[in-house]
Amino acid sequence: MTDIYVAPEVIALQGEYAKRVKEIITQRYAQPKVFLRTFGCQQNEADTERLAGIATSCGYTVTDTEEDADLIIVNTCAIREHAEKRALSGTGQFKKIKKEKPHTVIAVCGCMAQQEYRKDQIKNSYPYVDLIFGTDKNHLLAEMLYKVLTSGKRQYYVSGLHHDELGVIAENTPVLRVSNYKAWVSIMYGCNNFCSYCVVPYVRGRERSRNSAEILKEVKSLIDAGYKDITLLGQNVNSYKGDMDFPELLDAAASFEGDYRIRFMTSHPKDASDRLIEVMKKHPETIARHFHLPAQAGNDRILKAMNRKYTREKYLSTVKKIREAMPDIAITTDIICGFPTETAEEFEDTLSLIKEVGYDMIYTFIYSPRPGTVAAKMEGHIPHDEQVRRFRLLSAVQDEISAEKSKKALGKTIKVLSDGNCEGRSSQNKIVTMDKDIPAGQFVNVEITETKAYGLKGKVIN
Ligand code: 5AD
Ligand code: SF4
Repeated sequence: MTDIYVAPEVIALQGEYAKRVKEIITQRYAQPKVFLRTFGCQQNEADTERLAGIATSCGYTVTDTEEDADLIIVNTCAIREHAEKRALSGTGQFKKIKKEKPHTVIAVCGCMAQQEYRKDQIKNSYPYVDLIFGTDKNHLLAEMLYKVLTSGKRQYYVSGLHHDELGVIAENTPVLRVSNYKAWVSIMYGCNNFCSYCVVPYVRGRERSRNSAEILKEVKSLIDAGYKDITLLGQNVNSYKGDMDFPELLDAAASFEGDYRIRFMTSHPKDASDRLIEVMKKHPETIARHFHLPAQAGNDRILKAMNRKYTREKYLSTVKKIREAMPDIAITTDIICGFPTETAEEFEDTLSLIKEVGYDMIYTFIYSPRPGTVAAKMEGHIPHDEQVRRFRLLSAVQDEISAEKSKKALGKTIKVLSDGNCEGRSSQNKIVTMDKDIPAGQFVNVEITETKAYGLKGKVIN
């Protein structure tokens, strides 16, 4: 896969389109505004910040009030059916606005829009949507807006993602970050793993990694600008393969001078190497003590059917290594319950896995068939009631485990990054409620006086 980078000329041309869009909209509207709505994961949040950056370069200012908007962008998710339903009904809500203010441009993008059949559905059933574009077209927003505004016709920029060809990386696009102390940094895009349940490889394309120099430049400039919490993002962040590998990149990102924390999301257990663990251990201050390590299931037959490429034993040995290296680390996971053919006994293995690991938190999902994936075509789908039973059981067991885990923090003094409103986050990513309102973006030491399953409470110490 060569030429994954969007040519600098193409990005420069977008700057030209942005100028033209600005001319048009400043003539047409008094104060052009954009409203952005995001569904889904951090990757989408990061993409929305880029879309906001481009929209700003086109002359729009961001508004929180959709009724005020001249441009509405809905960034959608496709991970589960529920996410798609929400994105579709979220899109439907803008029908009224279009009726009242017909000039409002409505754009739908993201993972759901990337699927050809969903694009057709939006095209046919949501006639008030003016622009639909896929995940690999975000950097062309200025051009797409120009076409919408000058043609008066609906525009579609969704090209099928053919498995081995897809993928671009667009550097040097504008960005408008939501926070001035927390930032996302995408380091790689796409996924090559083809877990049998997952739609991501089909909507995000093949794995491709940014150059380390570009990433480190971005991280350094964020630290210099006062950012305190920087998350390196990728669908398989530790599969990063730029001109160096992920442990080396993380080591470099955590070696800058300054008071900050690096996080990374999401890891695949197959790539949680000894070297990665060593690097994390080496930087107790600048790398957060949190490892999100999606297990998905605790039974080997199901793991195989999911195409996860590790066994329960291998997974547990990774967890053990992580804990030995960093006893204070928080480990969290994703679990899918009710995968096709999963028997009640096999589900017990997942239940026993979460007990054995003792996670700080788990994200539990009911299996949702995704058109086009291998699992969707499997026989033996589990009835919804049974999926719900498993989901509830997992949640109840985890609530107790999390409560026990939290208790360990009692009486300890921990470093918290304030989010304002008497709340903040620990290095372990636990929510900490404080007795004082500390300005957002400031680190403080907090003595923990009370614990709950998913939160800590404490006194601010100077
Ligand atoms: N059904 C349910 N959960 C899913 N996930 C991914 N695909 C599906 C699906 N088809 C979950 C996985 C993943 C998380 C982001 O979403 O647990 O780690
Ligand atoms: Fe949703 Fe996955 Fe796309 Fe994120 S990458 S928006 S979770 S489908």
